[in-house]
Amino acid sequence: MGFCPQCRAQQALAIEAGPPPRASAVAAAVVSATAERTDERDRHPIGIDEFDRVLGGGIVHGAAILVGGEPGIGKSTLLLHAADSIAGSSGSVLMATAEESTRQVQMRSRRIGVRSDGVLLVSQSDVDDIIGLAGELKPSAVIVDSIQTISSVEVSGSAGGTSQVRESAGRLIDFAKRSGIPVILVGHVTKDGSIAGPRTLEHMVDVVLYLEGDLDRGLRFLRGIKNRYGSVNEVGVFEMTQTGLTEVLDPSGLMVASRNESAAGTVLFPTLEGRRPLVIEIQALVVPSEAPQPRRAVNGLPPARVHQILGVLERHLAIPLRRHEVYVSVMGGIKVSEPAADLPIALAIASAYFKTALYRTAAWGELGLTGDVRPVPCPSIRSSEVERIAAGPIISPDAGIGRLMEAISASGLLDDRRDEAGGSD
Ligand code: TYD
Ligand code: MG
Repeated sequence: MGFCPQCRAQQALAIEAGPPPRASAVAAAVVSATAERTDERDRHPIGIDEFDRVLGGGIVHGAAILVGGEPGIGKSTLLLHAADSIAGSSGSVLMATAEESTRQVQMRSRRIGVRSDGVLLVSQSDVDDIIGLAGELKPSAVIVDSIQTISSVEVSGSAGGTSQVRESAGRLIDFAKRSGIPVILVGHVTKDGSIAGPRTLEHMVDVVLYLEGDLDRGLRFLRGIKNRYGSVNEVGVFEMTQTGLTEVLDPSGLMVASRNESAAGTVLFPTLEGRRPLVIEIQALVVPSEAPQPRRAVNGLPPARVHQILGVLERHLAIPLRRHEVYVSVMGGIKVSEPAADLPIALAIASAYFKTALYRTAAWGELGLTGDVRPVPCPSIRSSEVERIAAGPIISPDAGIGRLMEAISASGLLDDRRDEAGGSD
């Protein structure tokens, strides 16, 4: 233009020398992917098997780990157990508990039986103070509970806001990389994951774990969502008790032990959490209804999937479900999204409708709209888990079931029906 469009000054542009070429400096930083083997021993187990399993064996030097979950699910409790275990084996762990007073955490420590003297608590919400303290103390790990409650005076906005959360997390992650001290961040997430904070953090950290479960019930699942150092196909199972979170080494056994197998409307389903099989219970309740649109309620399963299965049952087995209320639930607060659950869902509903128990029957298979039953991944892992807990029979495509009708026949639901029809009542 020849002049500045804002101040109208003539010859406002001046030529400046650009930055010197950077290529040579960058070239020095190029390494071969195979040149330096990363050391597997650089991984330090926490000492809690279910936690280490999800981490892929332990915490890697300088890792930034995010532990997310709904408020009250047990994140602080889990990390206090972890801090105790790490401090017990390797010195000290710094826990910055901006959310609670140190007295509160001390009370919790007493309740869950923290033994190590190396769990160091500080109620501090300034991120730079936390980093400064960690630099001085040089603990084996730094735990920040929670990322939404810490902030930096140099950033505008209140704690918990996106810019504060990102900046605080950024500084802590940078500290982890510089010092090699792993940093564990706690992040609150609401049920629908609507809080922006932790979600935007997911790509900044190396490992993302979510603690899930039913707040009203005991089981808690620690799931790997992202892991730069290992597989995400792992899940750790815990139970919330009076004295904190305890590991559940045989969740299938626990699930089946608490079940009334002679009730109608329940069936076992060996689901897969990553590659770990877990036998769960699917329950259904079918109640006659006069309503033009009888109620359907689904817990722990995709509702659309259940509606489709109701349609298939109605069409291919002539069960008049449109005149019944139907409730379907996965027990133990577990969420299942595998299509492999289709057949067990159908069997549970049929069992509830025919008021006939299936006892220890286990099932899996995807149900097509035409009433066909299709194979699903990892049948051998599923069947060995069913055998391990001494359940059975198994109704599945791998047991030769190709249609829903065959599955219902194999279950014996219709035999009992015939006996009933011919019986005295
Ligand atoms: P907490 O770890 O504070 O959850 P978060 O940090 O994810 O918000 O634990 C919350 C719940 O766990 C609390 O409501 C009480 C329960 N709880 C127990 O049942 N037993 C225990 O030993 C502890 C410490 C907590
Ligand atoms: Mg907490």
